[in-house]
Amino acid sequence: MITIGIESSAHTFGVGIVEDGKILANVKSMYPISDKGIIPMKVADFHQKHAAQTIRKALKEASVRQEEIDAVGYTKGPGIGPCLRVGQLAALAFAAAIAKPVYPVNHAVAHIEVTKQIYGLKDPLALYVSGGNSQILGIDMEPQPHYHVYGETFDIGVGNMLDSFAREAGLNPAWGSTVAKVAKDGEYIKMPYTVKGMDFTFTGLLTNAAALLKEGRSIGDVAFSLQETAFSMLCEAAERALMLLRKKEIIVSGGVAQSERLAEMLEIMASSHGKKFYVAPNEFNADNGAMIAVVAEKIHTSPKKGVSERLSINQKYRINDFKLSWL
Ligand code: FE2
Repeated sequence: MITIGIESSAHTFGVGIVEDGKILANVKSMYPISDKGIIPMKVADFHQKHAAQTIRKALKEASVRQEEIDAVGYTKGPGIGPCLRVGQLAALAFAAAIAKPVYPVNHAVAHIEVTKQIYGLKDPLALYVSGGNSQILGIDMEPQPHYHVYGETFDIGVGNMLDSFAREAGLNPAWGSTVAKVAKDGEYIKMPYTVKGMDFTFTGLLTNAAALLKEGRSIGDVAFSLQETAFSMLCEAAERALMLLRKKEIIVSGGVAQSERLAEMLEIMASSHGKKFYVAPNEFNADNGAMIAVVAEKIHTSPKKGVSERLSINQKYRINDFKLSWL
């Protein structure tokens, strides 16, 4: 059974091919990001231009002919409307051409599921950290299988917080990974720390970091302190969930899961309780098509096949609204 997955929720047009859970190809075309961020229509144009060639490249890499594909998956959301639309239409056209079924997939679920697939995990606690979101999640079987949000940010996602700080500090490129670089030799400055149970907020922290820069504190010290404080908040909330839900494993996934420091802190926290910690290789925490194929394959091989899901896009698709129809 071979499944192709198409991801296009933001600046990456990704195509992945999976055969019985094994990833055969994971090809990406990435829109070059400028300091100005993402202009939706321009990225959508880029995706449209690169869709066919990225699909061809993935088929070639996997050594698969298109008529050998059994099912197609695409990212339904969350994401940027015009970008999602290109991936949806590419998937529908491809599925129609080979007369095979097509399945819409939630982007956040896909990041988590690909990590579980790689490490053979069944029911870990998941910390999902991306630009737009930061959530603590676990599977809940009632009233139907879904990811329950046990805790989340009350305002902005940790990724957007780090990107905003990078812009404020004039870093180039204005990404969290650049913040990590300049944070390497920083010294700690006390900053606002807000965790309420398993929820947290980041805007106060961002405002404080910007104020410290204006006061003349060094970028290195502020970047280091910002990162340490934000990641400690995530660790504290995740630790509480890990204990309360009595999970044996914790995973981190999503764009910010590429942060080595966050992974290091989570590893320390988990091992101090005798729990296991897992993070997937970076290519699966960055946006990619393989994770979409992994979920589409699960849906296709389950008896229910997720038939009730509409073949639409949903820019604000909440993770808890996606039915895990294979469970
Ligand atoms: Fe993502």
